[in-house]
Amino acid sequence: MPEQLHPDIESVILSEQDIAEIVARLGAEISVDYADKNPLIVAVLRGAFVFTADLMRAITVPCTVDFMAVSSYGTGVKSSGVVRIVKDLDTPIEGRHVIIAEDILDSGLTLSYLVRLLEERHPKSIRICAFSVKDVPGHKPAIAATYVGTHVPDSFIVGYGLDYAEHYRNLPFVGVLKPEVYS
Ligand code: PRP
Repeated sequence: MPEQLHPDIESVILSEQDIAEIVARLGAEISVDYADKNPLIVAVLRGAFVFTADLMRAITVPCTVDFMAVSSYGTGVKSSGVVRIVKDLDTPIEGRHVIIAEDILDSGLTLSYLVRLLEERHPKSIRICAFSVKDVPGHKPAIAATYVGTHVPDSFIVGYGLDYAEHYRNLPFVGVLKPEVYS
């Protein structure tokens, strides 16, 4: 059945079916790697909440979830990757296997900062599971994800948790926003 296109969306780059296949594969990989490890899945709000909800249900081994919310200090500082913790984890992570679930890895600065911060709490391990990694010619993210769902083009994409001005996170697919919406 053809995807119902939102009027603000130029094209769909990942359909619901594509997303389901990606998430199922990531869940299966994590289930193999983390059998008996009881990993803590850390969702980085807000974008990752949709992906995390699906990923958790694709993981077949015992695991728990917690949430962090971060905000960058502003454009000038974002380039340094320094972020402010708006909501910290409620779960102590010392000795735990942590998997950070992210919706999109772009510059990687947010995650490299977060990983450094969480490492100070002495988890047993930390890995990143990124639903998508943005392909920017000539640029590599500052930190690599162990689990990568898919690569997406360097265009203005929304849906499946990704927003523009807090909207479109609820779209069940990932699509390119029409330029007239944001210009
Ligand atoms: C997005 C995304 C990542 C970050 C990736 O979050 O969810 O957390 O940007 O960018 P980076 O790799 O260049 O650091 P955003 O700040 O838009 O907040 P949101 O999750 O609330 O949408």
